[in-house]
Amino acid sequence: MQKEVAMITGASSGIGREMAKQLSKQGYELILMARREDRLKQIRAEVNTACEILSVDLSIPEECMNVYEKTKEKNITVLINCAGFGAFGTFTDIPLEKELQMIDVNIKAVHILTNLFLKDFRRKNKGSILNVSSVAGLLPAGPYMAAYYASKSYVTSLTLAIAQELADDKSDVYIGALCPGPVATEFNDVAEVSFGLSSISAKDCASYGLKKMFQKKTIIVPSTLVRLSSSASRLIPRKWVVAVTGNQQKKKNKNNK
Ligand SMILES: NC(=O)c1ccc[n+]([C@@H]2O[C@H](COP(=O)([O-])OP(=O)(O)OC[C@H]3O[C@@H](n4cnc5c(N)ncnc54)[C@H](OP(=O)(O)O)[C@@H]3O)[C@@H](O)[C@H]2O)c1
Repeated sequence: MQKEVAMITGASSGIGREMAKQLSKQGYELILMARREDRLKQIRAEVNTACEILSVDLSIPEECMNVYEKTKEKNITVLINCAGFGAFGTFTDIPLEKELQMIDVNIKAVHILTNLFLKDFRRKNKGSILNVSSVAGLLPAGPYMAAYYASKSYVTSLTLAIAQELADDKSDVYIGALCPGPVATEFNDVAEVSFGLSSISAKDCASYGLKKMFQKKTIIVPSTLVRLSSSASRLIPRKWVVAVTGNQQKKKNKNNK
């Protein structure tokens, strides 16, 4: 029987890398994507199932389309949109180019790959899509990481809406959003921040995310503390939540340490 294939973006590091290893252990063949080919080769050498690597810059929409054209005939049953990054600073201080690139990776690439693969999954009435959002995507706004929070709100909102459409159609296809709080990965170095709150490991985040994906949970929040605080934030006026989030963000500034 043809083996099932899991496609993972952002697999060269952090949460995506851990998900690749764990899905391989569960018997999935892999298609891994990121820009750093050397990192992807390392993971290919570590896993025991077939593993194809695609070195792509997902900030370029045409590359996302090409990925689909190259892989659409494979038996892909799991798509994990994990690639993403953040940028810290006052909105007008962060270079516009950097934020536009963030929008391309965090929003456009997720949108394009979800759209193209979901059409096939719907036709076959089989498949799972896990979009890696963030707890940032459950909060109203995040001063000092404004575009990052907004990008993750897009991912969460898009995912919730599609999940309802699938439920309305009684489809067996799954889509969900993984919304972690702080996770110890390379994210901070890329965003040039340090966490004010304690973080969970990428391994724990990945295993919780995959477990809940297979249980078909739509919004997945690893760590009890983050789950409780994001639920509590819905009981408090938005303005206060935004002010508190902004204060937390300011503490992440590496230069304040
Ligand atoms: N760490 C956290 O605290 C945290 C919390 C909530 C949500 N998240 C989300 O989790 C996801 C994974 O992040 P992480 O924490 O694992 O960080 P990470 O270790 O920095 O991994 C980010 C991944 O995204 C890939 N990527 C970035 N830009 C790309 C591009 N233009 N084209 C292709 N791939 C690109 C990177 O690969 P290359 O650099 O090799 O291209 C890398 O594999 C992100 O969506 C992030 O927003 C993270």
